Formats: sequence, C-alpha cells, structure tokens
Amino acid sequence: MTHPRSTTRRQKITLRAIRGPEWWLMVKKFFVHGTTIASFAPSSRFLARKILRGIDWVKARVVVELGAGTGPITKELIRAAGPNTKLVIVEQDPDFCRVLRKKFPGLDIVEGDACKLDEILAERGIKYADHVISGLPLPSFSPGLRDSILSMSARVLGPEGEFRQITSMPWVYLKLYKSYFRDVSFKLVPLNLPPGGVYFCKGYQHTTA
Ligand SMILES: C[S@@+](CC[C@H](N)C(=O)[O-])C[C@H]1O[C@@H](n2cnc3c(N)ncnc32)[C@H](O)[C@@H]1O
Repeated sequence: MTHPRSTTRRQKITLRAIRGPEWWLMVKKFFVHGTTIASFAPSSRFLARKILRGIDWVKARVVVELGAGTGPITKELIRAAGPNTKLVIVEQDPDFCRVLRKKFPGLDIVEGDACKLDEILAERGIKYADHVISGLPLPSFSPGLRDSILSMSARVLGPEGEFRQITSMPWVYLKLYKSYFRDVSFKLVPLNLPPGGVYFCKGYQHTTA
C-alpha cells in the first residue's frame, strides 16, 4: 500500500497541475489533519447548489456556513444571496481562511470554532440564524464535539431554522442525523467526487443514536 507521505514529487506536481492549488491544499490538509477535514476534494458546484436549494432569500436574514474549506459552497452562497441576507462564514483553519479572504474580499469570514457560534453571532449583534449550512465532517468528530456543534447550531437556529449538512457517504448517516432532528430528509448528488448528498434537518431533539 502506498503511504500518502510517499507521494513522489512528480505525482505532486501532476496533481497540482490537474486540479489547481486549492484542490492540492485540500489534499494536503486531509493528510495532515485527517478527521477534522475528512475529505480530499472540495465539494462540486452540484453539491454546493443542492445544499442551498429552496432557500427563500427574501426571508432569510442570516445564513451561516460552518467549515467552508476552500469555499465551493461560499461561492454559491454569494451568487444566491440577495442584499437582505447577512452571510457569516466560519472556518477554523488559518490557511483556508487566507484562501477564502483572497477569493471573497469583503465577506464576513471568521477564523474560529463552530462550537462558539453563539459568541461569533453575538459579536455581530445577531441572535438567530435562518439556516446553518455545514461542510463540517460531523460523523468523524467525537460524539461530544458533534453534540456541542449540533446543539449550538440548534440554539442559534431557533425552532423554525434549518440545519443542512453535506456528506460524501450517501444515506450512511441518516440514522445519526435522525437521532438529533425530528425531521430529516436526504437528497443525493451523484455529480460529486465521491458521489455525495445533503441532509436537510429541522426540529432539534437529541436522542442516543
Ligand atoms: C470536508 S471540509 C469541507 C470544505 C468545504 N465546505 C467543501 O464543501 O469543500 C471540512 C472543513 O471544516 C473545517 N472545520 C473542522 N472543524 C471545524 C470547527 N470546529 N469549526 C470550524 N471549522 C471546522 C475544516 O478546517 C475544513 O475546512
């Protein structure tokens, strides 16, 4: 078996040339940080569009993105959101934040931890969000970390808000998300590397999976 670190210089250059520097940064972060990244490729635009589908941009006042990475969902958020919607992008990795700030100047990009979402919003005078869009690899987090991120998201969403989560393992975590939310649906996105999908979750009510 080839160990990731044994990738040859030629392979590295070829990968970088084929996919571009952002794709390469994601691959590197995946091998260095493992479970906090949990994906070797940024989401496709098909997945990014699916996670935003059906959002009422006239009504949505605040939309939060957690775990933006190199920004494929952020890009679609900016395209879709109108002037009434405040976007707050939370990403804990400083290198990804640098990429995001360069790509999306003027956007509110917070280098911080999703667990502190209430503080991040309070600093902006915001109490509630209408949607939390998550690119976080929640299933690979410890149950304690996952619980705190999901309960924090639920707190800032309020009873009517919606939590949306990408996945690159279609249907596998349906039971997991159903243990946190009363109303969960899943939409497949085959055009992603690997094929993925989105969980749409409402009505936080945590039970043991
Ligand atoms: C699978 S990548 C998703 C990247 C991007 N959303 C996409 O769709 O390509 C997960 C991202 O979550 C970020 N992340 C992990 N834990 C986090 C946390 N506690 N708070 C904020 N971001 C976090 C990682 O740094 C990484 O950029």
